Amino acid sequence: MFPVDRPRRLRRTPAIRRLVAETSLQPRHLVLPMFVADGIDAPREITSMPGVYQHTLDSLSKAAEEAVAAGVGGVMLFGVPRPEDKDADGSGATDPQGILNRGLRRLKSDLGDATVIMADTCLDEFTDHGHCGVLTEGGAVDNDATLTRYVDMAVAQADSGAHLLGPSGMMDGQVAAIRAGLDAAGHHDVGQLAYSAKYASAFYGPFREAVGSSLQGDRRTYQQDSANRREATYEVELDLAEGADMVMVKPAMSYLDILRDVANMSPVPVAAYQISGEYSMITAAAQNGWIDRDAAILESLTSIRRAGADIVLTYWATEAAGWL
Ligand code: PBG
Repeated sequence: MFPVDRPRRLRRTPAIRRLVAETSLQPRHLVLPMFVADGIDAPREITSMPGVYQHTLDSLSKAAEEAVAAGVGGVMLFGVPRPEDKDADGSGATDPQGILNRGLRRLKSDLGDATVIMADTCLDEFTDHGHCGVLTEGGAVDNDATLTRYVDMAVAQADSGAHLLGPSGMMDGQVAAIRAGLDAAGHHDVGQLAYSAKYASAFYGPFREAVGSSLQGDRRTYQQDSANRREATYEVELDLAEGADMVMVKPAMSYLDILRDVANMSPVPVAAYQISGEYSMITAAAQNGWIDRDAAILESLTSIRRAGADIVLTYWATEAAGWL
């Protein structure tokens, strides 16, 4: 009549639960995405991401030092150029004086090798049309012409001190092209965290404000369709064959099944990106008093680790690292 098997025994006290926890979350697992903006003289809070800022070079440096002091595994830098500096080719991405390259040099000179400095290798912040690549005359995103731009961007970022590049544009062949370009420039030591399985997602909405995106329309001709699962492991296999040093699944929370698939097959470290919309949803619900903010953050990060991420990119990296 009464049960013999009682799983509740192992849930009885916090100490027992801690002893038997299968998944761990440590500061080194967390990577902080950061935004550095040109033409501002004070950090600017992003309206749709309360608590996240577009940084000046000085505030970037300070926030990165705080992240490192909290023990995070690394930082991922995005550049926000002045609107008048955008053009069809995204010239600011390859200009050594472009804001992202200046930000990288600042981080490198302040932090050296004390953390892992990563750079977003994608044109969308720098193009006046907001797409991740250059366009054909007909307005389509031109895969192969874009690869040439990515190679130049990658070399400029490596020259500026990035340890790892994050190609996030979902162009076919981007990892191989960047690898060849880096090697030809003598940057054999600079690796790639490939955004291998990146889905076209409505949850990127707040990021578009964060980087002042000019995009009209969507990215469905290059980012993956959320209906597809097998395609993600195919994309990962291609990136591995092209020389990816690590792979990423993005977004995280609506794609935990994909993350598990990738973790099961990948011989290299797997990252997942808890994106802007995930941040904003939890933040907004907590601001309304509808959920316990800190518990929800920790639960979300734990679920991403449990699904198979070695590394989690999250806007809460510094704060969460401080709790752990
Ligand atoms: C593209 C890029 C995007 C994000 C990271 N890299 C935007 C997009 O694909 O539209 C989204 C990150 C986020 O939403 O937090 N450079």
